[in-house]
Amino acid sequence: MSNVFPENFLWGGATAANQFEGAYNLDGKGLSVQDVTPNGGVPANPGDKNPLITEQPTEDNLKLEGIDFYHRYKEDIALFAEMGFKVFRMSIAWSRIFPNGDETEPNEAGLAFYDKVFDELAKYGIEPLVTLSHYETPLYLARKYNGWANRELIGFYENYVRTVFTRYKDKVKYWLTFNEVNSVLHAPFMSGGIATPVEELSKQDLYQAVHHELVASASATKIGHEINPDFKIGCMVLAMPAYGMTSNPLDQLAVREFENQNYLFSDIHARGKYPNYIKRYFEENGIDIQFAEGDEDMLKNTVDFISFSYYMSVAQAHNPEEYGSGRGNVLGGLTNPYLESSEWGWQIDPVGLRLVLNDFYDRYQLPLFIVENGLGAKDVLVEGPNGPTVEDDYRIDYLQKHLVQVGEALKDGVELWGYTTWGPIDLVSASTAELSKRYGFIYVDRNDDGSGTLARYKKKSFAWYKDVIATNGQALYK
Ligand code: BG6
Repeated sequence: MSNVFPENFLWGGATAANQFEGAYNLDGKGLSVQDVTPNGGVPANPGDKNPLITEQPTEDNLKLEGIDFYHRYKEDIALFAEMGFKVFRMSIAWSRIFPNGDETEPNEAGLAFYDKVFDELAKYGIEPLVTLSHYETPLYLARKYNGWANRELIGFYENYVRTVFTRYKDKVKYWLTFNEVNSVLHAPFMSGGIATPVEELSKQDLYQAVHHELVASASATKIGHEINPDFKIGCMVLAMPAYGMTSNPLDQLAVREFENQNYLFSDIHARGKYPNYIKRYFEENGIDIQFAEGDEDMLKNTVDFISFSYYMSVAQAHNPEEYGSGRGNVLGGLTNPYLESSEWGWQIDPVGLRLVLNDFYDRYQLPLFIVENGLGAKDVLVEGPNGPTVEDDYRIDYLQKHLVQVGEALKDGVELWGYTTWGPIDLVSASTAELSKRYGFIYVDRNDDGSGTLARYKKKSFAWYKDVIATNGQALYK
């Protein structure tokens, strides 16, 4: 069978600083919002209060030490290279560069760390894909300014991105402005550093914060292209397709309303202006976005590509109270009786990925990049012929089925630059802050109680992914 994956397809894995670097207070790093959310940052159910936020970091927060990539990056990058990675998605911890977030001068030690990481990646010909803000707003900005609810954040972010764009202009080509930018609607503290408790946060303030992030994202795109016209700058959205629970037109309308809340973000990034459907939503909900002079023009700085995470789909209905609701990745929906779920209740839907790819491509005709996909599961370490390992056939099965659907979307004509699995090395979960929710090809010996040696072991999926990459996807069809 001829290969459907394009030559130069960027295979790799994706991470976030706050979930794996550790060293939360070393070399001048300031605190980020993650350092005070030991239970993860996502309310268990829509409408729930903010999860636990502590005054100061507490020892039970596994993110503080992560998996110590900060000191082990050489060993870890060597393992990624052994799998044949072409790309590695990582974030820069904003508070490593600007510890409080509102300084004018950066922290040199923070900049020097990422220089070393990029140089190590370059040694193996691995392209970095860098998220500028991945759920790790400097805590000071949350406490003093109320995060993105405050317009001043735009200027602080511009200063930060200008600094890193300039410093790494010859080392990094692919950039993402905000991780899962649409998630701020559901997890305002983790995603947007908004300290106001969810139950007190008005829709007006929330959507105004969204506006600030969208303007900042467009501004980053503009600044980046000025610094290096070869930069490829993308937005990053949490993709979660929805199906109508029944063929009742009202259920399809519920789907449309749910999807519009997500499309809002990619529409503005790709088209450079607010879509009409949201104007009606704003009107009906008493939301009046304050545009400063120049905002409208700024939004016209549209992205070079659309990237997204994809783990699951949901169902929607006009009468949701009549159905069981499933847990989800930051946002959620109803349980679809046709799908199975992961141990954390996320509904597994490979075909949904093909739909998402086609929907985004039809809508924008822009290149796409899948920057997160994977299965969080409880792994059991066993003794293998070459030392400890994990027989993670369930993970291989999940990824294999999703990648076959990616192949189908490529046959459908979608333009896709690459695919990075979430957490190629085990790291701390974002939503629940556990280590036992593992996604990796590489097992890390660290447990939910913080114990463990931090040793790295290859799981069965390590060799599988290596083969997929080496054959540019042909191994999926064996
Ligand atoms: C995405 C985030 O929501 O999903 C990641 O961008 C996160 O940061 C990933 O880790 C998986 O979610 P979780 O909660 O299982 O870690």
